Amino acid sequence: MTAVEIKKDIHWVGAVDWNVRDFHGYSTERGTTYNAYLIKDEKVALVDTVKHDFKSDLLHNIHQVMEPSKIDYIIVNHVELDHSGSLPEMIELIQPEKIFCTANGKRAMISHFHREDWPFEVVKTGDEISLGNRTVRFIETKMLHWPDSMFSYLLEDKILFSSDAFGQHLASSQRFDDQLPMDELITNAGKYFANILLVFSPLVQKLLAQVGEMDLGIEMIAPDHGPIWRGQPGKIIEAYDRWSGQETKNKALVVYDTMWKSTEKMAKSVCTGLEREGVEVRLMSARLCHRSDIMAEMLDAKAIIVGSATLNNNIMPRLADILTYVKGLRPKGRIGASFGSYGWSGEAVKQLNGFLDEMGIEVVGDGVRIKNVPEHEGYQKCVELGAAVGRAVRGSEQLTAEEA
Ligand code: FEO
Repeated sequence: MTAVEIKKDIHWVGAVDWNVRDFHGYSTERGTTYNAYLIKDEKVALVDTVKHDFKSDLLHNIHQVMEPSKIDYIIVNHVELDHSGSLPEMIELIQPEKIFCTANGKRAMISHFHREDWPFEVVKTGDEISLGNRTVRFIETKMLHWPDSMFSYLLEDKILFSSDAFGQHLASSQRFDDQLPMDELITNAGKYFANILLVFSPLVQKLLAQVGEMDLGIEMIAPDHGPIWRGQPGKIIEAYDRWSGQETKNKALVVYDTMWKSTEKMAKSVCTGLEREGVEVRLMSARLCHRSDIMAEMLDAKAIIVGSATLNNNIMPRLADILTYVKGLRPKGRIGASFGSYGWSGEAVKQLNGFLDEMGIEVVGDGVRIKNVPEHEGYQKCVELGAAVGRAVRGSEQLTAEEA
């Protein structure tokens, strides 16, 4: 790992975390990066820092460019600890003249680090500072991803330092989008969006409109995680517009948990019904698939059909975990249904429908319940349930096309 000059006198000085596999409950099977950037001008600015454990990587990279003590300003786009964990020690070392942040950023830093004496300079949308030959303009991005978040835009170089937005958890020895396969980057960025930002979709839509009106002519997007978008920054902006608009396709997830494989057999029959109606299907075992991978698939799926055996008068705990998680991320405009086998009381299907209702999902039918083990008639009911959802998915697609 080494500092990388991303444009003349502007350097990536962050850290690559190859080993992280759980990021506050989100599975990061490909690791991540904590990006920080050094802008060398008459005044030198460090944009963000890194997670505490990676402070020595940050320092080593800065040293390759210059003495850290020569940094004048620290720009804190976001206070979450993956970007600010090493801030107290960096401030101690650098003794910066100013720390630029939003009003919420100042409050968040004080409540995290309890240092009211730091040289905070609060900025708001449209404020600009000069570094000498370069100008930084600030754009508040409240709730993307925290109340404190902001973008910093380098006007002359047309680089948007976008904090969490447009990022992804991907450890790599490459620093740029044009060094990696674009389809993988978009899939990975989609997983990030689904798990971190989907809940804030209306704000993302507003922000995209606001940035569009500013007509910034962005040539490079430098997020705080994953590769820098220099080859095709338009690709990730287009994807954010699509994802935050909650655009879905003719696709359904069947997510289930089972005790003695009866509910699993039902799940496969539900898939058969969906396939007969020409719907793309993902069958996902709640036992085998991580909640964040299910959420990633949910991003462009029009339907989610959930199945659970009844365990102690309840749904299976893994399903409860997943549905609680999905509910919090607020997918909109989806269609759903439920199914499950049972031994004696069989409450799971009713409870699953309750979850779907609470999420604002349009529920097709009352669900299919089968006592113990399904046979031909039971399988057929599940195929019909899948087909009914499939028709609803296709119907909504036609409606969208007609509306358009
Ligand atoms: Fe990468 Fe919201 O922190």
